[in-house]
Amino acid sequence: MATSTVGDPLPGRRLAIIGGTGLTSLEGLVIERREVVSTRWGEPSGPVSHGTLAGKSVAFLPRHGYRHTIPPHRVNYRANIWALRTIGITHVVAVAAVGGIDAALEPGCLVVPSQIVDYTWSRGHSFFEDELDHVVHIDFTEPYESELRGLVLEAGRGAGVALTDGGTYAAMQGPRLETAAEIDRLERDGCTLVGMTGMPEAALAREAGLAYAHLAVVVNPAAGRGEGPITMEQIEGHLRAGMGRVRAVLEQVVRLV
Ligand code: HPA
Repeated sequence: MATSTVGDPLPGRRLAIIGGTGLTSLEGLVIERREVVSTRWGEPSGPVSHGTLAGKSVAFLPRHGYRHTIPPHRVNYRANIWALRTIGITHVVAVAAVGGIDAALEPGCLVVPSQIVDYTWSRGHSFFEDELDHVVHIDFTEPYESELRGLVLEAGRGAGVALTDGGTYAAMQGPRLETAAEIDRLERDGCTLVGMTGMPEAALAREAGLAYAHLAVVVNPAAGRGEGPITMEQIEGHLRAGMGRVRAVLEQVVRLV
């Protein structure tokens, strides 16, 4: 059995931010150019923006497209991660909107999760499929890269923004939200927050040899955990409120990576 990543380690450190719902454009990012990258896995969600944030160079790719038209189950995660690797990115901070399962994770909280349970299906989830010399299994015991997680947490301290350190991210298929019983099951499984895009993104980053960490914004209590149904207005309101703090953290992250 072999554990390895695609290609050789890349030199230097180059950061990309993958934007999620509510972050199709990164306010404060001064875009210098946009790069169209075609990959053997198909088209990424859009061109990669290259620019500076708080004076530091960074790349940006919105996973749902620049017009927010690609739903979670249709994102070409392989093309996105491959494109970032192709252009020399070594570190990825992925922003994601999530529902809070743990009552302590109220809407508005920012979380740097430490574990993942993957419930997604039928997504292109590995680079190691065809034309292999040997079968490859990556180690995924710790799905997030620990140094980069630490830098995101440090960025939160630097920005004066409270971040919850740790939590288990349940990656659901979507695009529908969950039933209350599904959330009960996720809680029994030990999950504290739920989203739709964390996988296979994190595993592909590991396969590609990219350091990857999540910055999650809680935008609603998960199904059955709040009052009544979950509305888009509720989600969008909390997203808008949270994005200023997300940006403040990212402005510190670019300094630290
Ligand atoms: N469930 C799954 N994904 C989500 C949620 C949720 O409650 N909120 C934001 N993304």
